[in-house]
Amino acid sequence: MIEIKNLSISFGEQKILQNIDLTILENQITIVVGQSGTGKSVLMKCIEGLIEPVEGSIIIDERDLFTLNKQELNETRKKMAMLFQGSALLDSLNVYQNIALPLIEHSDLSEDAILKEVTEKLELVGLKDVLTKMPSELSGGMKKRVALARAIILKPKYIIYDEPTTGLDPIIAEEISDLILKLQEQYDIASIIITHDMNCIRKIKGNVAMIHDKKIVFDGTFNDFINDERKIIREFVK
Ligand SMILES: Nc1ncnc2c1ncn2[C@@H]1O[C@H](COP(=O)(O)OP(=O)(O)OP(=O)(O)O)[C@@H](O)[C@H]1O
Ligand SMILES: [Mg+2]
Repeated sequence: MIEIKNLSISFGEQKILQNIDLTILENQITIVVGQSGTGKSVLMKCIEGLIEPVEGSIIIDERDLFTLNKQELNETRKKMAMLFQGSALLDSLNVYQNIALPLIEHSDLSEDAILKEVTEKLELVGLKDVLTKMPSELSGGMKKRVALARAIILKPKYIIYDEPTTGLDPIIAEEISDLILKLQEQYDIASIIITHDMNCIRKIKGNVAMIHDKKIVFDGTFNDFINDERKIIREFVK
């Protein structure tokens, strides 16, 4: 479980988030929504331990993230995967090398075992015969799938998706939403999805947290979210 307690984040004089409370439950999907620039990506970077808050705490599996030493922080980070908006594949490495990289760095598996894991994950995300392709040879949707395969290779307990369907055509976007649901069911991962995409939200459902004007203005189920009468939510849901 991830517990965000009374969290405030600022950059210099600019306050981004103020006294935020949010709980990410195990094996569940939490969708984080809000207008552009409201601090969604900043919040996610803070959960990854990349940004320090000015106030408050983030408790991951009962340990306060900002009291961990370097080694403990690394152990915690291994439990968390992040799917970046632009997929963030390494351009100079082929598909196999990109997906295998976390295993090469963090496990002592043999080459054969790594190849087996990589092939298995590629199948799971619906890709075949792409092991030796370079990222530049892949479509946007294929890159997302490869990035997904890489994100789950260390069997994370938590996965954070930053705008997983943005910039994809509607059919591919729907396939990626389906894939997120499939991974959720097969791996019991707690998924945190940042998105603007109402189609993705309707497909995935899950719990919704909305950030507006530095605060969490909604935290509840998908059904309660789409039925909320407040203007800021109606404008988002329409
Ligand atoms: N490293 C940084 N230094 C200073 N300001 C930053 C930094 N990172 C983000 N910000 C500011 O924090 C605010 C929130 O940014 P953030 O990227 O979290 O928005 P977002 O909600 O993810 O928006 P989008 O939906 O467009 O991705 C913005 O005003 C941005 O300029
Ligand atoms: Mg963002």
